[in-house]
Amino acid sequence: MVPAGACVVVELPDATATVRLGMALADVLPAGAVLLLQGELGSGKTTLVQGLAQGLGISEPVTSPTFALVHEYPEGRIPLYHLDLYRLSTAEVQQLQPEYYWQEAPPGIVAVEWPERLPVWPSCYIHVRWQNDSSAGRRVELTAQGPDPQQWLRQLQARQAAGQLP
Ligand SMILES: Nc1ncnc2c1ncn2[C@@H]1O[C@H](COP(=O)(O)OP(=O)(O)OP(=O)(O)O)[C@@H](O)[C@H]1O
Ligand SMILES: [Mg+2]
Repeated sequence: MVPAGACVVVELPDATATVRLGMALADVLPAGAVLLLQGELGSGKTTLVQGLAQGLGISEPVTSPTFALVHEYPEGRIPLYHLDLYRLSTAEVQQLQPEYYWQEAPPGIVAVEWPERLPVWPSCYIHVRWQNDSSAGRRVELTAQGPDPQQWLRQLQARQAAGQLP
């Protein structure tokens, strides 16, 4: 079980493992899910979104929207909205109105890099945090905010227990 506040820790020895975690998330997340991706520069946030896109059947290459700020991928099983807030201040993010993507846009999966910049966080989300360590690979910690995300995290935990993650 994943009680409120519990977390799932996933070891990602290489970039392929990050892609596979993204694909596993595509299997368990429904339209309307918000994924907040928090990690230092170069930790693997965009790589995880590439796995998500692959899992949703999006063939268009996923690149970092650092300059575009938002990339929309409508062609998959569920629309994917990829936001990268790195270059913005919190005031600038407010003007961008990112909540449009989880409140008004056709329901999709919203993946946000640099969620620290969001002036207001959504009420429900999966939070993926990259842990700083000196190893060549990466380690992430996933937590859930809200009852539905807790349910999705439980599904991921079941996959992990079955040796299917990543
Ligand atoms: N688990 C992993 N182990 C080792 N390298 C990884 C892992 N996951 C991703 N990488 C590599 O890390 C590099 C940076 O990845 P990526 O661009 O996805 O990071 P990012 O967090 O989106 O960066 P930025 O903060 O600049 O947006 C890439 O070369 C990618 O292949
Ligand atoms: Mg990135």
